[in-house]
Amino acid sequence: MRIAVTGAAGGLGGRVVRLLADRADVDVVAMTRRKPPAEALPPRVEVAVADYADPAALRTALKGVDTLVFVSSDGPGARVLLHHRNVAAAAAAERVGHVAALSSVDADAASPFCYAVTNRLTEDLFLASGVPCSFARASLYTEFFRAWLIKARATGLLRLPAADGRISLVARDDVARALAALAVGEPTGRHHDITGPESADLAGIASIAAEVWKTPVAYVDIPADTYCAETAATGMDPWWLYAFASLFASVREQRWDRVRDDYARLTGRSPLALRDVLAAQG
Ligand SMILES: NC(=O)c1ccc[n+]([C@@H]2O[C@H](COP(=O)([O-])OP(=O)(O)OC[C@H]3O[C@@H](n4cnc5c(N)ncnc54)[C@H](OP(=O)(O)O)[C@@H]3O)[C@@H](O)[C@H]2O)c1
Repeated sequence: MRIAVTGAAGGLGGRVVRLLADRADVDVVAMTRRKPPAEALPPRVEVAVADYADPAALRTALKGVDTLVFVSSDGPGARVLLHHRNVAAAAAAERVGHVAALSSVDADAASPFCYAVTNRLTEDLFLASGVPCSFARASLYTEFFRAWLIKARATGLLRLPAADGRISLVARDDVARALAALAVGEPTGRHHDITGPESADLAGIASIAAEVWKTPVAYVDIPADTYCAETAATGMDPWWLYAFASLFASVREQRWDRVRDDYARLTGRSPLALRDVLAAQG
């Protein structure tokens, strides 16, 4: 079976490539924007250079591919959607037999979160393309949220506009395992919620970090306007300021407060807890 994986030099795609490369029954094509040095990839892995903005390169990369593991693009939402449309069109044109696509637990055009909207529209795009699909709807990555925790470790305060919103943080390694499991199976035609083993509010998340790091970390709920003003003052790019502010608006709506056993069903393993990931990463 020939399986292509996009975002192959990225955190998630790279893990999927390594998991699939361990299987004797899979030929892996690592799709990436720049050719990596040979030693960066496991042996036997082919490389196909293709930017999501380049429909012709995407079609060339997908020739003869049975299954595509599609890791979503990043950056401004309209561009992300254009990239995803190019990938769906190329997969359909090359008659790819199965797309196992990354999506998010909040995949809803009615969500305030910018990527909940793009992810829902992307699922709709793939379904409309006629290519058989499976969707891994991931919760927020623990490693992604850890960036805010690391800042809080320095100050003792986790200041975010999340109110009492709860999040079922999931390890990125687990999302990779779920995508790899979907890729070697038959298309399911539906979504699978890939979540951590528990959901916690930010006070709970802060107290786990404090316990693991043996240092005080306390959650302080701040108004959304204060978050925007403080974050803008750091010079953050306006798109990312908007993306993060809209993310916390979706957290306040409890859109990430979901714990499901889909990961265990797909992989036969238990998902890693926040405590495990923080302890392993220091
Ligand atoms: N659930 C969450 O908490 C969360 C948080 C952040 C992001 N995300 C989503 O999850 C995805 C994977 O996360 P990650 O941690 O692996 O991010 P990452 O390390 O930044 O990897 C994303 C990869 O996407 C590929 N990509 C981006 N723009 C592209 C383009 N124009 N054409 C082709 N490929 C492009 C790149 O692959 P190459 O380097 O190989 O070219 C990039 O390395 C992100 O792209 C984003 O959509 C989810």
